[in-house]
Parts: sequence; C-alpha cells; structure tokens
Amino acid sequence: MQIIRFDTAGELDAYAANVMAETIKSKNNPVLGLATGSTPLGIYDKMAELYRGGQLSFERVTTFNLDEYVGLPANHEQSYAYYMSKHLFSKINIPKNQTNLPNGIAENLEQECAGYEAKLESRPIDIQLLGLGHNGHIGFNEPGETLSGKTHVVELKPETRKANARFFDSLDDVPKYAVTMGVGSILKANTIMLAVRGADKAAIVREALTGPITTKVPASLLQTHPRVLVLLDREAGRML
Ligand code: GLP
Repeated sequence: MQIIRFDTAGELDAYAANVMAETIKSKNNPVLGLATGSTPLGIYDKMAELYRGGQLSFERVTTFNLDEYVGLPANHEQSYAYYMSKHLFSKINIPKNQTNLPNGIAENLEQECAGYEAKLESRPIDIQLLGLGHNGHIGFNEPGETLSGKTHVVELKPETRKANARFFDSLDDVPKYAVTMGVGSILKANTIMLAVRGADKAAIVREALTGPITTKVPASLLQTHPRVLVLLDREAGRML
C-alpha cells in the first residue's frame, strides 16, 4: 500500500486525475471504476480540464460506477447517474453506452445485480477510484458481521443516510437501500486508488489502513490488495 499525503486538496485532485490519465493513455480500452460523494468532485474537474486542454480523450474509456440508490431514476438530481453526468460525463467525450451504473429502478433488482456483476467480469477494472465513508464503508458496503462479495442490494445504515442527507431536502428523502458493487468486485480491480479528505475522516483512515482486517471496517479489506494507492490531505492523514 502506497500512501501519499498532500498539503492542499488541489494537489491531491491533480495527482489523482493524472493517475487516471496515465491509466487511460497506457491501455487500448481502459476501464475505470468511479465513485461518487464529495471527495471525487475535484478529481473529476481536473480530468475534465485535461480533456478540454486536449491532453486526454475518453473515446475508448469504459466506466463502471460503484453504486446507485434504489428507487431514484437517472434524472433524479440526487441519483448517482445524475451526479456522474453532471460532474463528469457531460464534460468529456465519453460515449454514453460506455458508461455503466447500476439501475436503481430496475424491476428485478436481483437480476440487475447479477447483470452488473457479469458486465464487470467481462471488462475487468484497470483502476478503481474509492472514497471512504465515516464508518469505513467503501461503495455502499456497510460494516457488519459479514460482507457480500458481489454486486448486491444493501440496506443503508442510519449514519450513512444521515451523512448523505446533506444532498437531499430532508433525511426522509434519503433512500433506505442501494445497489453496490461488493467488496469482492472492488478488490478485483487491478489498482485501487483511495482518496480521503478532511479531519473528520482521520480516525477511520487510521483504523482502515493500520487496524485489524475486519468486516466491521469494510475498507480494512483493502489491506489485502497488492496495489492500493492512498491519497490523503493533511487532515485525513493526521492520525497515521
Ligand atoms: C457515499 C458513497 C461512497 C463514498 C462516501 C463518502 O456513501 N456511496 O462511495 O465514498 O459516500 O462520501 P464523501 O466523499 O462525500 O465523504
């Protein structure tokens, strides 16, 4: 596990965008695993900047997002499909049919999960971008006695719904379920890039990176992966 700390958020974002760019340039048909939340926003801005500057093309890129809320259609402002289109896809030259997110309004969610997992298996992820939940979740893999390996439906923890309520009008509006790639699907990525910012994540960063490997801290399973790049701002890394 390689840990890099940055003095400013801007430096972290630029570094992460460059890692993505290098991956894209080094492959004929690159596959990126993408994340949502507030952490990747600056990274997506920088990736779009590289595209605008003519330094990067997304024409041959395929993407898979980690997760989606159950019950929110793609045109709902808080859906992750909407987020991705607003913050990245609409700003770059990626063909729409090369972008993949779980469909949170599929009639048969089990079938949706199996289909998503099959697509992932056919197009292994070169680099997976990850954020970190305050309770150690990755994607929407919540802490528990057990974890699911594959893409599945998950019931969101009250603390996760609360943390994400800032994006909704009220806590009641936050969906109770989500579809997420499993920890196994995430760990299959060739390289994992975990980006974490802010003092409020310092304790969970320490637990996840240096504590015991346990399903109670899903991100601790990243310690088992051979190629993990951790990008931290000064505050997120201050307890290491
Ligand atoms: C959500 C997402 C995660 C993300 C986490 C942290 O729950 N499902 O993929 O990593 O939030 O978000 P933030 O970066 O806003 O702290």
